Amino acid sequence: MLDHFDLLAPIYDRLIKLPLDSEFNRILKLPTDGRILDAGGGTGRVSERFKTLARDVVVCDFSLPMLKQALKKGKLLSVRGSVDKLPFPDGSFDRILVVDALHHFKKPLAAVGELVRVLKPGGRLVIEDFDISRFVVKLIAWAETLALMGSHFFTPDQIGKMIADHGLTPAIVRNGKASFWVVADK
Ligand SMILES: C[S@@+](CC[C@H](N)C(=O)[O-])C[C@H]1O[C@@H](n2cnc3c(N)ncnc32)[C@H](O)[C@@H]1O
Repeated sequence: MLDHFDLLAPIYDRLIKLPLDSEFNRILKLPTDGRILDAGGGTGRVSERFKTLARDVVVCDFSLPMLKQALKKGKLLSVRGSVDKLPFPDGSFDRILVVDALHHFKKPLAAVGELVRVLKPGGRLVIEDFDISRFVVKLIAWAETLALMGSHFFTPDQIGKMIADHGLTPAIVRNGKASFWVVADK
């Protein structure tokens, strides 16, 4: 079956030049001497910059070509797997990030359940996604629909509800830009 990210992998980092918000380290409570999971982390575009801020940084993704790009970045551990059935024991990670990926997951509620399961007690989960109420994001959603990517964008409240359904208390942090964070501690 056609996977858009398999095809895009070799050019992904050149194509996606989204600036990373400097607040993200604080939101993700970094540095940590524990382990970070970048779920749906693709080429490691985001978690590359956390390499020196944690003991281990694990990029988990469905797409092997995306993970091959992550491997080239050094010190990132790459694991192939689907977020709705993560190949890790309970409580494996101190920090988990999901950036620009939840709206691509086929089973987002199951994925959030898995993220909560593999988060260590005392750990933090941060989901960053685009705010569909913004005009520019509506254009992205429209383009992804045309490209048959099967994306489904959620509001911050909807993501918060998925997290609450799995027993954590979410907080929504807006950065005044086209994206937002939903943050939850276990
Ligand atoms: C738009 S990319 C974002 C990658 C990275 N988080 C970033 O911001 O650069 C979305 C990623 O989610 C991955 N993905 C989609 N569904 C997935 C699933 N069920 N399990 C794991 N990864 C998935 C894709 O393969 C792709 O690498």
